[in-house]
Amino acid sequence: MIHVLVTAKDGQLGQCFQSLVVKHPNIQFVFKSSSDLDITNKVKVEDVFSAHSFDYCINCAAYTAVDKAEEATELADKVNHLGAQNIAEACKKFEVILIHISTDFVFDGERTAPYLEDDITNPLGVYGKTKLAGEQVIAKTLQRYFIIRTSWLYSEYGHNFLKTMLRLANERDEIGVVGDQIGSPTYAMDLADATLQIIASRNTSYGIYHYSNEGVVSWYDFAKEIFSLSNSSIKLNKIETKDYPTPAVRPKYSIMNTEKISQILDSKIPNWKSSLAIAMVNCIKSES
Ligand SMILES: NC(=O)c1ccc[n+]([C@@H]2O[C@H](COP(=O)([O-])OP(=O)(O)OC[C@H]3O[C@@H](n4cnc5c(N)ncnc54)[C@H](OP(=O)(O)O)[C@@H]3O)[C@@H](O)[C@H]2O)c1
Repeated sequence: MIHVLVTAKDGQLGQCFQSLVVKHPNIQFVFKSSSDLDITNKVKVEDVFSAHSFDYCINCAAYTAVDKAEEATELADKVNHLGAQNIAEACKKFEVILIHISTDFVFDGERTAPYLEDDITNPLGVYGKTKLAGEQVIAKTLQRYFIIRTSWLYSEYGHNFLKTMLRLANERDEIGVVGDQIGSPTYAMDLADATLQIIASRNTSYGIYHYSNEGVVSWYDFAKEIFSLSNSSIKLNKIETKDYPTPAVRPKYSIMNTEKISQILDSKIPNWKSSLAIAMVNCIKSES
């Protein structure tokens, strides 16, 4: 039996892990919510680790409000950097392998070819800077870690682009979505599945990895496919980033090269369109 701690069980990704438990009878999961385990509380983190004998910790906990982070700098750093440090130190002390989720926002989006794991980072905003600081402290503290950077996460759970578009399709006749930021949408269930493949295979090729669904789209293309799959008649207009100013600047190019992780997974990374279709069905099921 493999013993796994999952933090932030009620977040989008945490809920995906919970729904995959049945597929992994050889993994014994302990799920903790943000109130059971605040990762910024070093004593509490140690208590949880000492009360169990974990083989792995999957850290899904993060301060993810990208725009709010521009003001809430201290809180974002406390969770994404110092919280990651607490988790990494506990992993070191209790000899636990850490799987930590990070983001494409560690890059500035100025490249024109998919980002490799060792490309130079240069986050544009507070969220990306604090997530990068979290990555760096993990790499400094531990030898046995997987940092998985992902992008454009969505699912039937939590708050995300898919659910926002489905809601707006019911509320509005017309909507503008940016067409000049491109990336790879990632179904959080696919990311959770890939993470559990790494654990189940006891892979020891530690390091940084990139995981997103295959294919490249703009937010506009992504919205177009969502409205098409949901038979929505909403009028969709392509707008430019400059017409939709946000407190945090987003990378205009968020494509990551996923070859490295593909080599350690048992199954092929799904294409964004096929995963979106599955997520839509699951969204409808969870609403009914
Ligand atoms: N969403 C995306 O598009 C995206 C893209 C790239 C990477 N990522 C990364 O993917 C991971 C999962 O994201 P997600 O979409 O699942 O985010 P999410 O739905 O916002 O979940 C984040 C979770 O972290 C919890 N949390 C916040 N502060 C905490 C603390 N101090 N201690 C313990 N838990 C805490 C939150 O709990 P409360 O709600 O109770 O505060 C929430 O359950 C994160 O590392 C994120 O940076 C996300």
